Amino acid sequence: MRFQAPRGTQDILPAQAPNWVRLETIWRDLVRRYGFQEIRTPTFEETDLFVRTSGETSDIVSKQMYSFVDKGDRNMTLKPEGTAPAIRAMLEHNLCPQGAVCRLAYETTIYRYERPQQGRYREAHQFGLELAGSSSPAADAEVIEVTVRFFEAIGIPELLVLVNSIGRTECREDYRAAILAHVATYLADQDEATRAKAEKNPLRLLDTKDEKLQAVLADLPPITDYLEDDCRARFDRLQELLSKAGVPYKVAPNVVRGLDYYTETVFEVHSPLLGAQSALCGGGRYDNLIKEIGGPATPSVGVGIGIERTLIVLEQLGIDASAQQEPKVFMIAAGESAFEEALALCRELRSAGLTVLIDYEGKSLKSQIRQADKSGAAVALILGDDELANHVVQARDLRNSQQVEVARVGVLDWLRSTL
Ligand code: HAM
Repeated sequence: MRFQAPRGTQDILPAQAPNWVRLETIWRDLVRRYGFQEIRTPTFEETDLFVRTSGETSDIVSKQMYSFVDKGDRNMTLKPEGTAPAIRAMLEHNLCPQGAVCRLAYETTIYRYERPQQGRYREAHQFGLELAGSSSPAADAEVIEVTVRFFEAIGIPELLVLVNSIGRTECREDYRAAILAHVATYLADQDEATRAKAEKNPLRLLDTKDEKLQAVLADLPPITDYLEDDCRARFDRLQELLSKAGVPYKVAPNVVRGLDYYTETVFEVHSPLLGAQSALCGGGRYDNLIKEIGGPATPSVGVGIGIERTLIVLEQLGIDASAQQEPKVFMIAAGESAFEEALALCRELRSAGLTVLIDYEGKSLKSQIRQADKSGAAVALILGDDELANHVVQARDLRNSQQVEVARVGVLDWLRSTL
């Protein structure tokens, strides 16, 4: 019986791993400069944490959670997103005492029971930021700026940064009523479940894929027309800050996001190089979430960046970190006594930082040279009885088949100048 990776999951193979490491290195270095500190949270949490934060009408809670009852009869869920766990940990460990500002960064797996397709998986990975304790639009601008700087740093051009404000709960009430009035005739023809969902959270209708509904909504005024003065002023200030930071953006009234916890600022970054799943990341402000899970009212803003989607774009751009891997050395030993010396030389070169491969099967010289060629090594070092007796090594540059004799004591220097 042979097994396959579960549907919607992916193995990250050695040929792809260097691309992940490259993103992780650039991400960590970038967010550190803005003062974000790394947090790692468990793979599963109490189900209720996600129900209370993402919201019952969100696709995540209503359809996508990997939930299970554990052997102690507790309802648990594999985390479908990183915000609620990071904030739960922040509160539990009192990382952000009242009045303080706290910046958390993470890399996390997420689990969502989705219909898999390119850019959409059941196990996916995100980089995330959560900035808690500030209601200033400068905090929103910082999170958006770091996100954009990340995509720039890894080499993605032509970003489409979409920003919107969905107001606070109070200003959303008027808009809610306006949407429901606008779609009343359309909803009358829909089934009970669609109607109930719309009434619970009419904002959800705005990013509909249904063309008929899109047509109905085409002349609905944008949500920004309904913002209270202070929300509007903060949204204007955010735009001013983004312009000053050199972040190109577009105001997009139909960006409402799929999670219930957002208030005021929401944003997404899209790439024309992605197909249907074109959002590289999504985020926004969530001023009520911390209170919702028992903490003090703490205005906060954050982002989640899809790592797989980012890698798809990099692949399209031909940016491949595996092509720039460290050059390797292949050690070849002809004969048993040479093998002992070859092992000693391997140790020496590895402790000097080189990547060194060796054959343990005692294969023929010819077969070892073939292996060296296949391994992608840049150089083969050949040690036989004659070399042992003369304290030398045959060094073969596999890239041009040139071979030279190098003194045993000078091997490291020769490699450093050749590789
Ligand atoms: P989200 O929009 O659900 O937000 O996810 C953020 C990003 O994760 C998406 O834009 C996408 O790139 C990627 N993503 C999501 N689901 C999948 C999937 N099934 N397969 C592949 N990639 C996926 C959040 O998760 C929020 N926690 C973001 C946030 C942080 N808001 C505030 N702080």
